[in-house]
Amino acid sequence: MTHRVRLQPGGETFEVLDEESVLAAGLRAGLHLPHSCRGGSCGACEARVLRGELRYPNGLPPGITADEVAAGRALLCQARACSDLELEARALEVPEEVRIRRLPCRVEKHERLCHDVVRMAVKLPALDPFVFLPGQYVDFLLHGGRRRSYSIASPPHQPERLEFHVRRVAGGEFTTQVFEEIDARSLLRLEGPLGGFWLREDSGRPLVMVAGGTGFAPIKSMLAHLRHAGAVQPVRLYWGVRRPRDLYEGDLVAQWAAEHDWLEFIPVMSEALPEDAWTGRTGWVHQAVLEDYPSLAGVDVYAAGPPPMIAVIQELFPARGLPQGRLFFDSFEFSSPAD
Ligand SMILES: Cc1cc2nc3c(=O)[nH]c(=O)nc-3n(C[C@H](O)[C@H](O)[C@H](O)COP(=O)(O)OP(=O)(O)OC[C@H]3O[C@@H](n4cnc5c(N)ncnc54)[C@H](O)[C@@H]3O)c2cc1C
Ligand code: FES
Repeated sequence: MTHRVRLQPGGETFEVLDEESVLAAGLRAGLHLPHSCRGGSCGACEARVLRGELRYPNGLPPGITADEVAAGRALLCQARACSDLELEARALEVPEEVRIRRLPCRVEKHERLCHDVVRMAVKLPALDPFVFLPGQYVDFLLHGGRRRSYSIASPPHQPERLEFHVRRVAGGEFTTQVFEEIDARSLLRLEGPLGGFWLREDSGRPLVMVAGGTGFAPIKSMLAHLRHAGAVQPVRLYWGVRRPRDLYEGDLVAQWAAEHDWLEFIPVMSEALPEDAWTGRTGWVHQAVLEDYPSLAGVDVYAAGPPPMIAVIQELFPARGLPQGRLFFDSFEFSSPAD
């Protein structure tokens, strides 16, 4: 059975099936609805219910309370429609050429970047260029309707060949395939571009970028884009990993920082061992930012990586003066069992 959803104030409408989330249906209809983790925890997909009934088949998601639901709040990545709906939710304004599409792709390059990260480069059909914004991600479509999200690490001016950084997850369905089965010439299917984590180039404010592990991938896309376009504001990148061996493209970023006055690179180790002989910054990456910025009032922050890192940034950075609307993030949430 399907229900009709109408968004306010924009008036966009789309159909949603009983078993799919309202967010999934909106994205399928080509609307760029705000979201990040798709796991019900980060709050990026929150909307207000103006009319109609919703349910949460997997129980109340961690990112919303019963009181908030009673007050008409909803997390669209988890909510299923029980009736026609009218929601207060704004689709993101993206250039018209940025269209969400399903495409086949061929793996062209598959190489180890470090002990647990693979760089996978895929080639897309050349006829109709894949237009995306620096920082966005795609979903690889697996058997049985399941999907896995990966940030595009390459810049938009190279649309025919997309780069991804995949970290191995023990027992993980897709990453096990990436490390053990997929090789150069494998065929995959993807959907994208997705997400609201992209570079807003016109703010003019200094940018503070925070990457955790493979959260470097979307930030690499942004930096490569800024190198190509000519950056107009200073950028400081904090990249947090456990040990120096995890800093898989640290030399490349250090080289970029040496080439460009606008870029500063601060790697931060959380678990460096004596044998690493690490002399740089240590601790949690968000803590390093807080140590350096008595106030975050004058900057824009872009953060990508593990959900606990994003959650603590969401909590602590506004308290350090980061104004609302100046924190852009992608939380690398695991997929729910249904995905
Ligand atoms: C917007 C977005 C962008 C992302 N971009 C990237 C990216 O650029 N690079 C990247 O490597 N990943 C990225 N991810 C995470 C990625 O989508 C997968 O969740 C991850 O690669 C695991 O997939 P899998 O199929 O191997 O594991 P699954 O089969 O989904 O997981 C199996 C089990 O392993 C555990 N698990 C899953 N992931 C982790 C983890 N990270 N750490 C510890 N335990 C885990 C869970 O308990 C899970 O039930 C992103 C996620 C999102 C939402
Ligand atoms: S809570 Fe829905 S996208 Fe994160």
